[in-house]
This record gives sequence, structure tokens and C-alpha cells, in this order.
Amino acid sequence: MGKISIEAIVEAVNDLPALPQVVVQVIKLTEDPDSTAQDINRVLSQDQAITARVLKMANSAFYGFPRRIGSITDAIVLLGFRTLRSIVMAASVSDILVQEMPGYALEYGELWRHSQCTAMAARLIARKSKFALLDLAYTAALLHDIGKVILNGTMQEAYREVVAKVTDDNISFINAEDEILGFNHAQVGARVAEKWNLPPETVEAIQLHHSPDEAKVNRRLTAIVHLADAVCVAMGIGVGIDGMLYPMSGEAMQLLGLDEIEIENIISELIDVFSDQQIFEIK
Ligand SMILES: [Fe+2]
Ligand SMILES: [Fe+2]
Repeated sequence: MGKISIEAIVEAVNDLPALPQVVVQVIKLTEDPDSTAQDINRVLSQDQAITARVLKMANSAFYGFPRRIGSITDAIVLLGFRTLRSIVMAASVSDILVQEMPGYALEYGELWRHSQCTAMAARLIARKSKFALLDLAYTAALLHDIGKVILNGTMQEAYREVVAKVTDDNISFINAEDEILGFNHAQVGARVAEKWNLPPETVEAIQLHHSPDEAKVNRRLTAIVHLADAVCVAMGIGVGIDGMLYPMSGEAMQLLGLDEIEIENIISELIDVFSDQQIFEIK
């Protein structure tokens, strides 16, 4: 099969739904220091489905609050604007990410599980490495593989070729994707993030999640997303064929000041959180 043209990719990115208005408004409000919890509550109440998901996520074991968070206002008071914003983002992209992606050997729900795992791992890694913007790490990690949604159809046709390339030439999955398609899911994901007007460091972290050593805008953020992804690959959560020959960057670990023991600790913390399977349900 031939390589896909950049025009075809641009068109596919344009076809992807825009972020829901509610999310765009919540992002705006959380950036404005004059906003109140009521303002955000008012916007979110227009979308009951997202509100229900947000509350469910806010109540998950991951955030570890002993008492139930019963309302958006409660969630803002307990979690803060930034964390709420990152949860709203997750709640709104779950429909896109939950789909089955046969081109990447991912069943229904698997990419969503992988994205959630990576987002949570990124938040933990950010905290351990004293990266202050926990929610920036969470959101970039949540979206790191979103390019797969766009490339899924093309990958379905190229599947055998790409897998053969990995095994025959002993190269990583993303390099095989590059060679066969002329594109990889990380580059395409970065275009999606641009379309959604996410900050340049988020775009970079998505684009370079498989090659973090090339990052320039925010090296630590990209390193966090990469390691978080690697952790979820190691845990076998929603990996599909992207996990074939996945090299973990030693430079990224060094940059964040993490050693193997700390990575192990992060994995066991995540295993605890995931024992509550509800964490992955979107309904
Ligand atoms: Fe990836
Ligand atoms: Fe991934």
C-alpha cells in the first residue's frame, strides 16, 4: 500500500469532532482568575452526561477523597480548578477514545483504558519528580495516542505490513508506522492537539511521546508522558501493537530524577487504583 498524503491527514483531523463547547467554556473559565465555582457549575449543568462522568471520575480511588463528592461545586472546592478542568477534558474525549481500533489491535475500551492509565501515571510521575503542573501532565498523557483514532482506518489496511516490518527489521512500532505510512500516530495526534488549541508544550509532548529526547519546548513534560506510557505498556494496559519493541528512554528517567525503584512504586500504586475497575467505565 502507498503512503498517505498529508492532505488526507489534514482532512481526517478536520473531520474529528471539535472539543464540545462546554469543555471549551470550562477551559476559558478556569483560566480566568475572576471565575467562580458557580460560573463553572452553570456551564457544566448544560451537559448532564459530562457532569455525571466528571463526578464519577472525581470520586474514583485515584483522587482518594474519603467522602463523596456530590456536586461540581464540591469537586472544585476539593480538587481545584485545574484538576477539574483535566477531568472535564477526560470526560469529554472518552467517547472518542473508547472506540475499537482494529488497526492497532485494540478492542472496544482498550485505548480508553490505556489513555486513562497513562494520564494517571503521568500525574503520579509529575508529583514524584516535583513537576508542578500535575494536570498539564495528566491532559497531555490522556491525549498522547489520540492520533490512533485518525490513523485506525489506514492502519487496518497496512496492519500486516507494519507488524512484519517490526519483526523482520527489529525496529520499534512507531518507526515501522513511519516507514510504511510515511506518518506516525504521534505526529497526527499533535495535529489534533493543535486543532483543539492546546498549548505548544502539550502538542510537543504528544508528538514526541516515543522520542522524548528530541523535546525542546518542555523536556520534562514530554519525558513524563513518555515514561507514563512506558509504565502502562509494562503493565499491559491497552497496549495493542504500539507496545511492540517499546524502548524506555534512560535520558527521560534521568531528567526527572527517577530510578527503577520509583517506577516500580508508581506501578504498584496504579495497580491499587485499578483494582477498582469502575475507573474505566464511562457510562
Ligand atoms: Fe503511542
Ligand atoms: Fe501509548
